[in-house]
Amino acid sequence: MFDVNKIRADFPILERKIGGAPLVYLDSAATSQKPKRVLDAIADFYTKHNANIHRGVHTLSAEATTMVDEAREKVAKFINAKTDEVIFVRNATEGLNLVAYAWARQSLKKNDVVVISLLEHHSNMVPWQIICEEVGAHLHVIEVDDEGRLLLTGTGTTQLTGGKLVVTTGSLESLLDERVKLVAVTAVSNVLGTITPTEEIKKLIKKKSPSAKLLVDGAQMVPHMKTDVTKLGADFMAFSGHKMLGPTGSGVLWGKREILESMKPFLYGGDMIGEVRLTGTTWSGLPNKFEAGTPDIAGIIGLGTAIDYLTSLGMDNIREHEKELIGYALGKMEKFEKKGLVEVFGPRNADERGGVLTFNVKGVHAHDAAQVLDKYGIAVRSGQHCGAPIVERFKTLAMARASFYVYTTKGEIDFLIEKIKEVPKVFSL
Ligand SMILES: Cc1ncc(COP(=O)(O)O)c(C=O)c1O
Repeated sequence: MFDVNKIRADFPILERKIGGAPLVYLDSAATSQKPKRVLDAIADFYTKHNANIHRGVHTLSAEATTMVDEAREKVAKFINAKTDEVIFVRNATEGLNLVAYAWARQSLKKNDVVVISLLEHHSNMVPWQIICEEVGAHLHVIEVDDEGRLLLTGTGTTQLTGGKLVVTTGSLESLLDERVKLVAVTAVSNVLGTITPTEEIKKLIKKKSPSAKLLVDGAQMVPHMKTDVTKLGADFMAFSGHKMLGPTGSGVLWGKREILESMKPFLYGGDMIGEVRLTGTTWSGLPNKFEAGTPDIAGIIGLGTAIDYLTSLGMDNIREHEKELIGYALGKMEKFEKKGLVEVFGPRNADERGGVLTFNVKGVHAHDAAQVLDKYGIAVRSGQHCGAPIVERFKTLAMARASFYVYTTKGEIDFLIEKIKEVPKVFSL
């Protein structure tokens, strides 16, 4: 059974008070809180095992190396990947940039096409703008419907000009052809919570752009639902450890072995080399080829422990819990919406949405609403959520976002809703 109160007892920070009120942490899409087990694992590493990995024959170095190897095995099992396909990076952003610099920059040519969607986080948008500019490739952007769901089919495209790139927008089907070499899409939107249909996307790619690779931004999926890279049909997937109960500084890029093997390294230096001669250098095999320099050893070990914790809760149970919470929150917010008090963004069906409630209080800037909520101890994010184009699509400058995780309760959602009612009063609306 999924016992939220028992889970909450594992998170020391949830005992905090904010200005005298109990903390109601509704910003897990930005970063999750960490259970004591993860905090202990980090302290244990620094207290008893701290040494660099792969660098020494001494006991501490061997222990640290084994701990990192074990964490890699845990990650691989968690996403059903091969161990040497798991590359440790600092965060999803670094993983996405690794693909941009070490794969796309080498593989794309003038007039090739990269397809992204309007839902992308800036970290899965800006690198593609830069690479397209550099190699003379084109950027195509999948549009969304009024509930923020990707438009998969439909004809008619629009060309946007005015910047350095000529960008074409439309449905996925209308944007795919044999020039497309990469489709880079998020599995779950951090702004609207939209769960994108990766299986259908893969089918369309196979039909219309068979040589295109699929990169999935898993930053908001891997922490919240069972992820199996063999079923996902992707070629690459990036995600961040800090959004899944792990420490900051830990992240993962997964890639298909044959593609990773064909790529040049991203960073050069220690730990990624085969042989170094003054006249030239060879590279180590996977995964070391992409892990130059000292990694965040404690972060990686902490991520392994976070995965143990998530596995003990069960990823399907976590998804069910969050689906129930978002369904509950949407039901409550819709009543307010009918009264004209708030505007809610994103899919209305909990099956199509992660645990992310995005809204605005009518007539109040999202930052002001978030500040009022903070007075009651409620932490929500406000602004553009590193997704300026999707926020603008809904004709607003900013949105407020409450995001849920394993420790979120219905009581906290009730409290949020009650305090949202207070917001207009503060501004005498
Ligand atoms: C969908 C998505 N992609 C990528 C990122 C970037 O993650 P990080 O800042 O950990 O690199 C985020 C962070 O919010 C995200 O939500």
